[in-house]
Amino acid sequence: MQDYYIAPSILSADFARLGEEVRNVLSAGADIVHFDVMDNHYVPNLTIGPLVCEALRKHGITAPIDVHLMVKPVDRIIPDFAKAGATYITFHPEASEHIDRSLQLIRDCGCKSGLVFNPATPLDYLRHVLDKVDMILLMSVNPGFGGQSFIPNTLNKLREARQLIDNSGLSIRLEVDGGVKADNIRQIAEAGADTFVAGSAIFNTPDYPATLAKFRAELAQ
Ligand code: DX5
Ligand code: ZN
Repeated sequence: MQDYYIAPSILSADFARLGEEVRNVLSAGADIVHFDVMDNHYVPNLTIGPLVCEALRKHGITAPIDVHLMVKPVDRIIPDFAKAGATYITFHPEASEHIDRSLQLIRDCGCKSGLVFNPATPLDYLRHVLDKVDMILLMSVNPGFGGQSFIPNTLNKLREARQLIDNSGLSIRLEVDGGVKADNIRQIAEAGADTFVAGSAIFNTPDYPATLAKFRAELAQ
């Protein structure tokens, strides 16, 4: 049985009640918390920073926090997120001048590292740094907003990334982000993903345990 992680994206949570929302999705069966950081520069939206990550830790959230950086530059914010309690820190290769250095910095700060690929970004960036990533995140929408539709070509890219990981023999998680819902999660898992980010498909439903149970049932098929 695959070790699947479900990672609710708090971008679609009620920010006025964030601690409670995160506690509720975790007790509903989520595995990790997906934390979208946007800077209104690398992407056309502005969200949350290290202070909010730290606030979740102070609120007693102990689950892994998966920080998805959609910011440019990336290096100066990495130590701040590590101090704030991030578990994973992932960034877009186009946003870093020195990809190898940024990956190393994340690990030196005691976090797990990852690269994020926009729909049109080729996986080539991985060729010389595969041993420096703990996670590969494939965007299945263009980054910046929740609630968009899954881009079908991501399935081919997932198969390609899965092969790369399996051939390497390394332990690397393969995460997918954007437009994931109960209807397509099975197909996405079959293409090779093991970590599923879902924002609107979880937070826009009234009953988180029922929604998470539906996701699990699809994955168990
Ligand atoms: C988009 C973010 C996603 C977003 C996904 O730039 O990285 O994490 O919240 O939202 P849904 O699941 O609604 O597509
Ligand atoms: Zn994200």
